[in-house]
Amino acid sequence: MTYLFLQKKIEKELNDSGVDSPHFSSKILITHFLDIPQYVLFMNSEISEKSEKLENLYGALLKVKNGYPIDYVLGYKYFFNLKISIDNNTLIPRPETEGLVDLVIKENKNYSKNFADVGTGSGAIALKLADTYPGSKVYATDIYKKTLDKAIENSKILKIKNIFFLLGENYKPLKNYISKINIIVSNPPYIKTSLINNLEPKVRNYEPIYALDGGENGTDIIKELVLNLPEKTKLYLEIADYNIPSIIKCCKAKMFSWRFEKDIFNKLRYAVINE
Ligand SMILES: C[S@@+](CC[C@H](N)C(=O)[O-])C[C@H]1O[C@@H](n2cnc3c(N)ncnc32)[C@H](O)[C@@H]1O
Repeated sequence: MTYLFLQKKIEKELNDSGVDSPHFSSKILITHFLDIPQYVLFMNSEISEKSEKLENLYGALLKVKNGYPIDYVLGYKYFFNLKISIDNNTLIPRPETEGLVDLVIKENKNYSKNFADVGTGSGAIALKLADTYPGSKVYATDIYKKTLDKAIENSKILKIKNIFFLLGENYKPLKNYISKINIIVSNPPYIKTSLINNLEPKVRNYEPIYALDGGENGTDIIKELVLNLPEKTKLYLEIADYNIPSIIKCCKAKMFSWRFEKDIFNKLRYAVINE
């Protein structure tokens, strides 16, 4: 069998199973599991890889056909230029979250102050901030140890040193550092509990629910983050548009300024609080 034949066969199987982007997915699965560069796929040469590699590829293909997210099968996702290792204890980093970090970077050029990322998951936000601002300290927290361990592993793989990991909920683990933190960035769980069942099956069935479910109105954690925000600290949040009334109410109660920004899909997705 040739590489080209294999690619067409896998693309068809993915397409027949209703997997998104079957052409791209077939190429990424083959190059990853056979450990070959992309150009080899276009050569009409016979496959020379050992059967073990092919077995791993077919095992992965079966999982993807059954709805398991391809990013978990591959075990990584790119967040900007950073290859972030992920597993099913961590949310798969999203383009909307790259948008959140883009906004922070665009609005805080040549910054040398300190950041926190509350609910760091794989560490994506915190790692990109630490990489972008080498003169800053970035404190990354998560409520779950297994999740935080993945973020720690990523900082080691990427050799990013100006990042510090703390376990605990909301601002609790930051209490000894909070006076040194100028900007808090967070992509907290913000989906209404009643909408969790409407999520795509590959999200609902395989991504950690504790990373998504924000309680009855989606704002259980957001409210904690706004109402307990220190007076001199700016907060950037990723949100859903239906979180907005509750966010405004909390900002009014604390006399904080607020502003909302759109994501690449033209949806109100970010809140900037206490500028
Ligand atoms: C939406 S995910 C975001 C993960 C990562 N920051 C990203 O953007 O890809 C939310 C993260 O918050 C963590 N989390 C949930 N509740 C929390 C809380 N009360 N305090 C701190 N972290 C929390 C979850 O474990 C999860 O990793």
